[in-house]
Amino acid sequence: MEEIFEGIYSINGKIFTKNIMPGKKVYGEKLVCEKNIEYREWNPFKSKYCAGIKKGLKKNIFKKNSTTLYLGSAEGTTVSHVSDIIGEKGIIFCVDISSIAMQKLTLLAEKRENIFPILSDANNTENYSEYIETMVDSIFQDISQRNQTEILLKNSKYLKKNHYCILSLKTKSISQDKKEITLNKELKKLESVFEIEQTINIEPFEKEHYLILLKKR
Ligand SMILES: C[S@@+](CC[C@H](N)C(=O)[O-])C[C@H]1O[C@@H](n2cnc3c(N)ncnc32)[C@H](O)[C@@H]1O
Repeated sequence: MEEIFEGIYSINGKIFTKNIMPGKKVYGEKLVCEKNIEYREWNPFKSKYCAGIKKGLKKNIFKKNSTTLYLGSAEGTTVSHVSDIIGEKGIIFCVDISSIAMQKLTLLAEKRENIFPILSDANNTENYSEYIETMVDSIFQDISQRNQTEILLKNSKYLKKNHYCILSLKTKSISQDKKEITLNKELKKLESVFEIEQTINIEPFEKEHYLILLKKR
């Protein structure tokens, strides 16, 4: 296993995180043991962050012991790997509007104590201001709504200055225009708050999706 980013490993082109709950799977992923350490395989077809790593993401925004805000956590597939990376002393505030997804995420949070589920519309940022007492170290957003860029801009108030976030942008949810045209329009909006560090087309793992690495000014 080669550590390609802090807490993220690779062997034979496959991506892994170190399982903080050895013996336990989250979504049917493969467990692999090397030198008495157990790793969980991370599937780029099920996780856009992993797809971004496969397509050359230049920075891992999730650091050990850090605090992150994850918007659109769903049932916790990607969140479970973030949980491995940031470790027991980190915290992931997970926001999702779906009560069904939240039920599953809550079960996961009972086992993984660094996951903090929040049932809320991410447009209504005041709903969770009481939980986020200090600014977060990173934000990841994966919400396929027409106003996905505006949602991130609203939530950027929770991100520390000079820290990073990633927007998973689904262009088809915004417009039927060519994906490059939609991307450029959204990048212009993001420039009001962020420096654009990298834009990655994550095909073939997800169609019409970009990952955008951003640094808060
Ligand atoms: C593509 S899924 C996220 C998958 C997840 N990031 C993963 O990799 O495992 C998008 C999620 O966004 C949530 N969502 C949609 N609109 C939302 C909103 N306004 N606020 C919060 N969550 C929202 C949906 O309920 C859904 O669970």
